[in-house]
Amino acid sequence: MAPEAQRQWVAALQETQRLNDQVVQADWTTGDAIDWPALRVPTPTEEFTPEEKAMALGGAQRLRPMSDDNGGWAMRLHGTLPEYFPSGHVGYLMFVLFHPQMLELHRLCLGRDEVFFGTSQSNAKAAGDPGARWHSHGGLCDGSGDALNTGINDRRLRDPDEYMAAGHCNLVLACQSHASATFPVRHNHLADESCLPADPAGFEGSSGCINIIRGSHLYCDTAADNSALGIDYVGPEEENAAMRRGWLSGKPHPVTGAPMECEEVRLPPGSLVACVSHAAHRVNPTAAAGPGRLAMSLFAHGADARTGHVQAGASLPPLWTLRAMRRELPEAACEFFRNAHDRELTGGRDATQDPESRVKLH
Ligand SMILES: [Fe+2]
Repeated sequence: MAPEAQRQWVAALQETQRLNDQVVQADWTTGDAIDWPALRVPTPTEEFTPEEKAMALGGAQRLRPMSDDNGGWAMRLHGTLPEYFPSGHVGYLMFVLFHPQMLELHRLCLGRDEVFFGTSQSNAKAAGDPGARWHSHGGLCDGSGDALNTGINDRRLRDPDEYMAAGHCNLVLACQSHASATFPVRHNHLADESCLPADPAGFEGSSGCINIIRGSHLYCDTAADNSALGIDYVGPEEENAAMRRGWLSGKPHPVTGAPMECEEVRLPPGSLVACVSHAAHRVNPTAAAGPGRLAMSLFAHGADARTGHVQAGASLPPLWTLRAMRRELPEAACEFFRNAHDRELTGGRDATQDPESRVKLH
């Protein structure tokens, strides 16, 4: 990104965080801060504790536990909590959602002429954030394990041609710093060459840095994670060691045959990361003494070439879905959001019917 785009993006993510912190700190148990009837849910009967709220400040995806009783699920579903649909709160982030180069990046990575909304969230990390263990995402799907799910429950190594035919999800992560490389999916993703720069200029330390295993996506395996280790993140070295002992053991790169590696990738501020469904990744702890990490993710789906079906837009807030259905948005937005409501396009899938599909997202 050009310096001016970086500046605007950083300002937008800071504004998202400011708004999010404001909403988190509000009293949700009255109608003063949140118009619950407009969200079609009862006013919460439970309240987040001061400690739970404090944990959520300065970052994203740390407001826990979410439930119907405390209003968390409704706030996420509707994107009223800014971190879960930042583009609905900060104009610049709606601009980047539809930026021609962003859409082209999705098309390139998915190898499709048409792309559709997946999700878009803040990935900000507060100082001292423990990071995220190794994990992978499927096609951000409905969990039923059929072909449309692009193998979410399927641990077979897929034929590369079959992989390319399946409908995948592309994830673009934009960071204030510590960002990494673009996976060139359409043309040479099977070999993964030139994914990393020869000289990672802009080396800035590992705080909040993303890690990835090139080639792991071809296994179509959402078990590419360290969840068996328990709920606590145990640190980069042990995370990697556990991955090598575990999921990576006996798994060569499906195309090159070379051993796959855990890689910490670092690039200059303003870089974008892009990876496709099932790529194993994790996030380093964020330094306790630093400024934290500003980041957001933008997911897009491509159609399954065999069926033409696209995953349902998993996290488009109902208000935006309604606007797209009524064609009240610009044409490009109506089309990009069409998988949130067009069940012919999605093969009958409707993400709003499946709360489980909202759980394992960035
Ligand atoms: Fe992830």
